[in-house]
Amino acid sequence: MKQDEQQPRKISQIIFRATTAVILIFYIVIINIIIIGEFFVPTNYTTTTTAPRTTQQDRSLLLRLGHQVTVLQTIPHDSNAWTQGLVTAADGLTTLYEGTGLYGESNLRKINVTTGQIVQQSATLPEQYFGEGIAFYTDDNNNSRIIQLTWKEKTGFIYDRDTLTQVSTFSFSTKRNQGWGITVRKNTFIVSDGSRVLHIWDKSTLREIKRVRVGQFFPFPQAVPLLNELEYDPNSDTLLANVLGTKRIVRIDPETGRVLAQYNLRPLYTKLTEQYSNVGALNGIALVPGTEDQYWVTGKWWPEMYKVELPYRRNRK
Ligand SMILES: *[C@@H]1O[C@H](CO)[C@@H](O)[C@H](O)[C@H]1NC(C)=O
Ligand SMILES: *[C@@H]1O[C@H](CO)[C@@H](O)[C@H](O)[C@H]1NC(C)=O
Repeated sequence: MKQDEQQPRKISQIIFRATTAVILIFYIVIINIIIIGEFFVPTNYTTTTTAPRTTQQDRSLLLRLGHQVTVLQTIPHDSNAWTQGLVTAADGLTTLYEGTGLYGESNLRKINVTTGQIVQQSATLPEQYFGEGIAFYTDDNNNSRIIQLTWKEKTGFIYDRDTLTQVSTFSFSTKRNQGWGITVRKNTFIVSDGSRVLHIWDKSTLREIKRVRVGQFFPFPQAVPLLNELEYDPNSDTLLANVLGTKRIVRIDPETGRVLAQYNLRPLYTKLTEQYSNVGALNGIALVPGTEDQYWVTGKWWPEMYKVELPYRRNRK
């Protein structure tokens, strides 16, 4: 008797819970699409001319992209470069440094930011090493250095900045035992390994001090895995990261791992793939010194590199 009474109530409870779950999932998916903008290409976006572009022309080419990504300038980029690291030298606006990947093709390049030309190149790493992220820093003896990670080889290389020759090697481990991106913040390196975890290393010892897990908290808590190339921006004390498998760049609070802003670069990628084949993943972010919120961005085998504005409202942090 008692069981018979409870039966309909149980069924209606199940229906209620299922409906709630469906509405919740629907909400999460819709909000995610709106917020992340992954699948959103603005309708007012127009493809530009396929003619070779000059710096002058590009100054007037202000493409308002989704999430307010503005292209300020376009320069050529080596379409054979599997970009894994991109940094600007602290000494000015004239050169960029790039680290490339792939076995047997990994090296460092110094690039003229006016022409996009490679003006200096390091020796290619031995075939067993797949080059990954690079960072530019000054060591304890005030030497200008470049640090480079490798993908699965658990080995890193230190180079003299001026000659691009190796001065030492080191071994490292991460959560996934891989090296992806690296950047310098104060007296630390921040290292990504394709997980959601950022590894904070002491700059002098290259030992891990702590880990920071990256996630977005709005509109609901969600981990952000596949963190790739990194760029620390001292102007706002924030960290920019490529996210593999997406066309977005996230801006992260390096202390808490909270995602503070996201930028949708899909329109840029779409335009590029309309003009060129063999365009790989978006990867590579380098701060333009002396500016706020301007960065060089490119990708693996991209024939072009872009100076973009990734605006950030500082009061949001
Ligand atoms: C970059 O190229 C331009 C144009 O050829 C040249 O004037 C400039 O000196 C170069 N800068 C560097 C740092 O090589
Ligand atoms: C570090 O080296 C730079 C030049 O590379 C020099 O201007 C500076 O004075 C040096 N600083 C120290 C503390 O030695």
